[in-house]
Amino acid sequence: MQQRRRLKNPPPRPLETTEYETLPPPTIRLRRKPRVIQDKRPTLSYKTSRKVAIPVAELRLGMYVAELDRPWEETPFLFQGFTIETEHDIAVIREYCEQVTVDIESSVDFQIRPTARTSKRTGTSHTTAVSKRSENIERALSRAQRTHADSSRLIRSIMDDVRLGKSVDTPAARAAVTECVDSVIANPDAMTLLSRIREKDEYTSQHSLSVSILTVALGRQLGMQREELIDLGICGLLHDVGKVLTPDEVLTKPGRLTVEEMEIMKEHTTHGRNILMSSSGAPLKALDVAYAHHERFNGSGYPRGLVEAQITHYSRLVAITDTFDAITTDRVYNNARTNMDAFRVLSKGRKTHWDPTLVIRFVEAIGIYPAGTAVELSNEMIGIVIETHPTQKLRPKVLLTHTPNGPLKPPMVLDMSTRLTDERGSKLEIRRVLPPAVAGINLHSLRDAGLLDNLASLPEFGRAIPSH
Ligand SMILES: [Fe+2]
Repeated sequence: MQQRRRLKNPPPRPLETTEYETLPPPTIRLRRKPRVIQDKRPTLSYKTSRKVAIPVAELRLGMYVAELDRPWEETPFLFQGFTIETEHDIAVIREYCEQVTVDIESSVDFQIRPTARTSKRTGTSHTTAVSKRSENIERALSRAQRTHADSSRLIRSIMDDVRLGKSVDTPAARAAVTECVDSVIANPDAMTLLSRIREKDEYTSQHSLSVSILTVALGRQLGMQREELIDLGICGLLHDVGKVLTPDEVLTKPGRLTVEEMEIMKEHTTHGRNILMSSSGAPLKALDVAYAHHERFNGSGYPRGLVEAQITHYSRLVAITDTFDAITTDRVYNNARTNMDAFRVLSKGRKTHWDPTLVIRFVEAIGIYPAGTAVELSNEMIGIVIETHPTQKLRPKVLLTHTPNGPLKPPMVLDMSTRLTDERGSKLEIRRVLPPAVAGINLHSLRDAGLLDNLASLPEFGRAIPSH
């Protein structure tokens, strides 16, 4: 009898570290399953029509917004069609639209309200924060390069110290993260772009810095204050510090880990907690994140198999950015996949693995074409996104590096939010995302050539005839 019960209710399947990299690419579907609406508002004949155009003043939580009264790409909403989950969503729609179309059959109970905890956790001012950039990308990149280089050296030094049995230099970590946070606040694209430049054989330290930057960018999107962002950045920077105690043959094995090796790999979470416990000044939140960033909502994570309610806010944030960075980076056993691949994995695992609201906020924070993305345009030119646009997500600023005939010398800057057509008058759009290796774009070379320091001196596309 006991055996039958076990079979009917098997325990959650353990989640392997690399599992998210082997999931088949799912389709992003952020719509909730249609449910019967308990219409308590007889003045609006919701039941007689599938789609209803309503003024934004009538918007309610749970409604499925199918259409806006302006192009989606002119708004901060990443997906065409979404369920209103917070009051903040309503506030943003009111900021951009006067009237929207609601799909009644796809809407959920209009009466649902976010809990106080949810509202506090998800923040309320992401659009405002995103639109406030105190530095343009040209100036921000110049400054961010020093910050990024210093932080890279610091995290390497922290890892080396721990390897030698020393404790974590938390004051130095805090100072470096503070610089990163100030840079991300001023212009998140600069640090996001630089985090794509990876040095070979330094995966853990580079990953740690990248996760710190991505998590701060997400926190900024959520409207978190500077001091919170610094704590959050430290949590991201130190989340994998326990890996210094993981044997190299496990850490860099070019293939699937055995069950025994996986158990050894999982121990990095406990190692990380212990290392930080013995390091004076390490924030308690950093201990928690180091210990819990592989926990998953359905209890399938490790090391404790925590479930949703037991996983803290900071650990939820780092769990998302950690996964995203791992998928989009070259590993010894896997090539980097695109941002959209990573978004699909996160979308598929929202609710079961990751906080669903935070997954959406993260996608909003990073965008379809984040800084550092190699893209091919409709006029066949190739370049790299250097700055996103707060509202026109499909029209970023691009550093053009190649024509179909070869490298563009010098590279040119194209602001797609203001330049809508190509040299022939045809609509200029991003055709597709390319892996940097395929595109022939080498971020290291661009940086080493000093181009990232001198964006302002480069010609603008359209003001000169491209040559190669
Ligand atoms: Fe980890």
